[in-house]
Amino acid sequence: MKFDSPITIALSKGRIFKDTLPLLKSIGIEPAEDIESTRKLILDTNHDEVKLVSIRATDVPTYVQWGAADFGVTGKDILFEHGGEGLYEPLDLKIAKCEMWVAGFSDSDVSSRRLKVATKYVRAAREFFAKRGQQVEIIKLYGSMELAPMVGLSDIIVDLVESGNTLKANGLVPLQFMNKISSRLIVNKASWKMKHSDCKALVDNLHEIIKAKN
Ligand code: PRP
Repeated sequence: MKFDSPITIALSKGRIFKDTLPLLKSIGIEPAEDIESTRKLILDTNHDEVKLVSIRATDVPTYVQWGAADFGVTGKDILFEHGGEGLYEPLDLKIAKCEMWVAGFSDSDVSSRRLKVATKYVRAAREFFAKRGQQVEIIKLYGSMELAPMVGLSDIIVDLVESGNTLKANGLVPLQFMNKISSRLIVNKASWKMKHSDCKALVDNLHEIIKAKN
């Protein structure tokens, strides 16, 4: 690929970086240094015009919304909590797949009144229970949700489940399926307009790779 305008892509460390790099590589974009070892937050690539920024997963939609990054890769879970303002979601990258579940003890009564739900996915949880006409109390946490029912902070949790090992290790079980989750490519609305040919080429090329892979 050849780019005429500067393009910044926001990624978060960990699984999204690991799974996104091979996709970028297959469209000819490679970081100029080792991502795991560097402390730098802006990374050069083999294209003078293309930079990668390394930020917290929950900040990716914010950077893209405000145009500090043209593109970002983020989980559907995080995107849903952000709300999607100021950005388009042109592509499901079909990586970092998992599911969102209501979980708790096997004998938890999920239909009981005034359930306490611990989660970092406040919006998703609120919408899920509202659709069922069920009043719940949401307790916002930032991680390790599995602990909450064990110490009596909540009755149930809303969390991501991949292998199910974390639930199992903490004596919890999945109770109600909520959503399938995967990572999405997001793009700033103004970048999509102003840098259209570069942005569209990147989306189209990635789309071809994902189609071939799946
Ligand atoms: C995620 C998620 C679960 C776990 C699910 O946590 O919140 O705790 O992974 O994976 P599993 O089903 O394969 O066990 P993460 O490690 O991202 O940390 P967190 O608790 O801070 O969200």
